[in-house]
Order: sequence, then structure tokens, then C-alpha cells
Amino acid sequence: GKVAVLYGGRSAEREVSLMSGQGVHAALLSRGVDAHLFDTASKPLSDLVSEGFDRVFITLHGRFGEDGTMQGALELLQIPYTGSGHQACAIAMDKITTKRLWQQDGLPTPHCRVLADEADLDGLVQELGLPMILKAPNEGSTLGLYQVQSAPDLAQAYANARQFDRLVLAEQFIRGRELTVAILGEGQDAQALPVIEIVAPGGQYDYEHKYFSDDTQYLCPAPLSDVVARKVMDLARDAYLSIGCSGWGRVDIMLDGNEQPWLLEVNTSPGMTSHSLVPMAAKAVGVSYAELCERILAQASC
Ligand code: DAL
Ligand code: MG
Repeated sequence: GKVAVLYGGRSAEREVSLMSGQGVHAALLSRGVDAHLFDTASKPLSDLVSEGFDRVFITLHGRFGEDGTMQGALELLQIPYTGSGHQACAIAMDKITTKRLWQQDGLPTPHCRVLADEADLDGLVQELGLPMILKAPNEGSTLGLYQVQSAPDLAQAYANARQFDRLVLAEQFIRGRELTVAILGEGQDAQALPVIEIVAPGGQYDYEHKYFSDDTQYLCPAPLSDVVARKVMDLARDAYLSIGCSGWGRVDIMLDGNEQPWLLEVNTSPGMTSHSLVPMAAKAVGVSYAELCERILAQASC
């Protein structure tokens, strides 16, 4: 049947999504799938029904695509879609709720405080130390994320993050190595792919470095001892299952100087651009980009 590759959309990550969608679309076509690009910013979703689509591959990132709203709408339309259900997506999109669930499950995530207004900045430096990270809790691709180096910068960083959201997440900065783990499947069958280490020049793995720069290095499998790699992969899988993810996803982790991993977030609709990480991890276990797309599509449900 016809498969719609949902892409574009209206989030701050629209440009990334356009790249992800084009990649997945071309890959599915190469595998003989009757795939069509569908920009959710320019067409009403109900066109999926009138145009006879019977499955959807979601390559939307951020709001109205990765946050559960789209998933809920597709459930109402009874069209099977890739990735996690609406509830896990909504949880994962909100880094505050995600961290609360992980804390409750005893999974390590950096110490944090939720800022509801400027008054909360008092005592923050004593509590979390410097540098610290301020994040808009519902954004991706490093958008709305600020690293605060010194106390006088705090108010400005807060004001910047506050533009994205009413609540701002202040998080302890973990000095160490930046890792990410792709997960495929659900429940007992969820499988962690090899760990990727991201080595960005100057330690800045930001929006520019994620999608446009060729000087960021990706090491896959990451150069870790077997014991540490296993620990990181198991933790990523636990984190994914803890918030009820299924289908596929990617868990971002920091490894501190004592080789202790700390969970940062889960992406339920990870990037699928030429620079993206899930395809890289799949390749390390002999799964091509096109095969990966097929596998993700095969698990579509609603
Ligand atoms: N939010 C981007 C697309 C990612 O995590 O890959
Ligand atoms: Mg993200």
C-alpha cells in the first residue's frame, strides 16, 4: 500500500525534518515501497485518508510531530505509524517529566531544578555549580539550550531559554564524553545498537555541528571497554523502556570522568539526515540506511 513520509511540519526543527524526510523517502523508494512525501505544514492530515495512505513513516522532529500530538491524531484516524505511541512521545518531548520518571526508576540523570520564574535563579549557582545548562524543556537539536559559564550570564541565558517555554530546566553540567545509543524494537525485544561517541571540536556539538559541519567526529562503536559499553547500552535500553518507548528511538548520555553514565534525554523521532546518528549505529552492525528504514516501517502500528 501507499506510505506517507510525514516531514517538515511547523516546529523549530523543520529544516532538519525536511532533510530526514527526503532521506527516508529516497531509501523507501529504492526498496520498492510506494512512498510519498507529505509536508504536514502545508496539507491537512485528513488528506492521508482521502489519498488512500495506509501507513505513515514519521520523520517530523519537535512539536506537532515528535510530541505525541501527531501520534494521537494518527491513532484517531486509525493509520499505523512508526515509532512510539502518543503517550511515550509526549513524555519524551518534555525533558522535565522524563527526568522525573527516570529519577523514580533509580536511573542516573544530572541533578536539576525547574525554573518557573526569574526569582528561582537565586541560589542556583550554589546548587548546581558552574558551568550549568539551561534548557527549554520541549525543544530539540540544541535549540533553546544555553551553557552558562559564569553567574552574571545566568539571567540572560534564562531570558533566552524562556522565549521557548514558560518553564526552563536548569541542569548540572556533566564534564565528560558525549554518547548516544540507538534503540530498535519494543519491550523484551528492544535492542541497543553500538554506542556512538561524538567528538565536536571545542566541545560544542550544537545545531550547526549536528547538521552542517564536517569537523565533528563520530566514533562508532565508541572506544569504551566492553564493561562500560555494556553498561551504557543497558542503561539506554532501561531509559527507553522506562518511559514506554517502542519502535525506535535514541538516548543521549554523558559519560563522566569516572565512567559513570548520566541520561540526558530520549528522542522518539531521531534525525535521519546524512549526518544523523541512528543510521550510523545501524551501519556498525551491518544494517544499511535503506534496510533500517524498512525495519522501522515494518513495526508501524496504531
Ligand atoms: N532532534 C534531532 C532531530 C535528533 O535528536 O536527532
Ligand atoms: Mg533531542
